[in-house]
Amino acid sequence: MQVAAYATQGPTDPLKPFEITRRDLQPDDVLIDITHCGICHSDIHSARNEWGRAKYPFVPGHEIIGRVSAVGGKVTKHKVGNLVGVGCLVDSCLKCSACHDGDEQYCEKGSVGTYGGTEPVIGGPTFGGYSKQIVVRDAFVLKISEKLDPAAAAPLLCAGITSWSPLKHWGIGKGDKVGVIGLGGLGHMGIKFAVALGAEVVMITTSPEKGADARRLGVSDVLVSKDREQMKAHRGSFDFLLNTVPVKHDLNPYLGLLARNGTMVIVGAIEPLEPMHGGILLANRRSVAGSGIGGIAETQEMLDFCAEHGIVCDIEMIDMKDVNPAYDRVVKGDVKYRFVIDMATL
Ligand SMILES: NC(=O)c1ccc[n+]([C@@H]2O[C@H](COP(=O)([O-])OP(=O)(O)OC[C@H]3O[C@@H](n4cnc5c(N)ncnc54)[C@H](OP(=O)(O)O)[C@@H]3O)[C@@H](O)[C@H]2O)c1
Ligand SMILES: [Zn+2]
Ligand SMILES: [Zn+2]
Repeated sequence: MQVAAYATQGPTDPLKPFEITRRDLQPDDVLIDITHCGICHSDIHSARNEWGRAKYPFVPGHEIIGRVSAVGGKVTKHKVGNLVGVGCLVDSCLKCSACHDGDEQYCEKGSVGTYGGTEPVIGGPTFGGYSKQIVVRDAFVLKISEKLDPAAAAPLLCAGITSWSPLKHWGIGKGDKVGVIGLGGLGHMGIKFAVALGAEVVMITTSPEKGADARRLGVSDVLVSKDREQMKAHRGSFDFLLNTVPVKHDLNPYLGLLARNGTMVIVGAIEPLEPMHGGILLANRRSVAGSGIGGIAETQEMLDFCAEHGIVCDIEMIDMKDVNPAYDRVVKGDVKYRFVIDMATL
């Protein structure tokens, strides 16, 4: 089926209207009319080939909300008219031990990304959510509560789950001191979740002007990472750091903030980092780890938690035609805290 979309044809090209082919509905497929799609910083890294893996034409978008408009004969989980979401994954083997454990993002056979993956039925690249409709295997379609504002729920599908998954994996809760590094799309959700889970949360930012907003989101303190005195005052005090910095950077000043047995989880920089100092790691038995998005069951758990606790993302809605200037604003850190595209404008 032919579907209207927005694509870029190369790393320096703007996104423009483009028609894509979606596969015909298979027995376990769901057809979704997309109403909203968030703009993740990964969309920009990928569209501009900053990770060196891009295939063109490229249609970004993996924070997708819409309504089911048709289902295949074997689908029982979703019904026509249901509000649903699709995140960064559209397929995996569902048989390996990672898939069995609900870690489909780490599928041993390789999971299929919503964009930039290989279309499992018709071949060619998978195309993301900057489009009118998408066809997705039912197991990868999430249920969205009607209690949630669909536009503000869209970024939960990537920014939300990427911050939720490490907080849950490392068992963060009451009694923990958590630092969230970078107040952007992932960071603002990291704050909301860590606060809701009962932790004491500190914002660690390069932008002092974001301090008031961070306090509104629930942090007890704001630490400006460029301020050496402030960094010294917090040395050795954090149980957990969620590092959302989107580019190569020096981890050492942040590592020094960790308390005994503390862990810093990298979710932002998907590229080589500056060298780490082993001495900072072995002092206080500190750990550095990474975490990639989240599995399907835990994404549903996060969405249900959001419906129960009234948690959504802080967004700015834009029309499809305004996507290119929006990309430039994300790179400058000039968005509070996620752009969401109104797909009715495509
Ligand atoms: N692990 C995963 O599975 C996964 C999933 C989704 C996204 N990502 C990646 O996560 C990163 C963050 O995504 P996002 O959408 O949250 O991006 P974003 O909205 O641009 O936020 C990133 C924030 O990091 C801070 N920052 C920017 N440049 C910095 C620098 N040079 N040094 C220190 N801090 C800096 C800024 O906050 P302050 O102004 O507060 O300093 C900025 O707002 C991206 O690289 C994205 O590709 C990873
Ligand atoms: Zn993303
Ligand atoms: Zn698998």
